[in-house]
Amino acid sequence: MLIRLVYASRSQNQSAQDLPAILEWSRRANSELEVTGVLCYLDGVYMQYLEGEESAVDALFKRIHADSRHQGVALLERRAISRRAFPEWSMALLDWNDNTRAIFRSFSPEARLDLHAVDPGTAAPMLRALVRAPGWKLL
Ligand SMILES: Cc1cc2nc3c(=O)[nH]c(=O)nc-3n(C[C@H](O)[C@H](O)[C@H](O)COP(=O)(O)O)c2cc1C
Repeated sequence: MLIRLVYASRSQNQSAQDLPAILEWSRRANSELEVTGVLCYLDGVYMQYLEGEESAVDALFKRIHADSRHQGVALLERRAISRRAFPEWSMALLDWNDNTRAIFRSFSPEARLDLHAVDPGTAAPMLRALVRAPGWKLL
């Protein structure tokens, strides 16, 4: 069964310095696991969308959860899906610009620009909308 899993967490050192290593590792490992998805990083907060076979995604999330490079890992959504939203990306990094910030605000009008405060019910649709936005870079 295919599932998607979305979580938010706080980076250990409040900086983006771990991102290159995380992405390099993830892109290689996820290709092998047939896990795809998107990672966002904004102001010290990660949000990640993982999709793939249930057993692969659950096992990966267990490892990610235990990673000391972040804390406060909050599971926002885990549900069955009929097809992948990001079939071609072993792990895309979503960069922030005026477009993506505006979309984020439209989903969370009350919230500060804090990925950790996103309503769990809107996390996955928001990520899909962000990725459809013009102008974001695949890093
Ligand atoms: C925010 C964040 C996202 C991560 N995403 C992935 C990922 O998509 N795929 C992956 O294999 N590892 C990812 N990792 C790394 C894993 O936590 C872990 O280091 C890696 O799977 C190796 O596991 P191991 O140290 O238990 O062998 C991520 C780590 C962090 C902090």
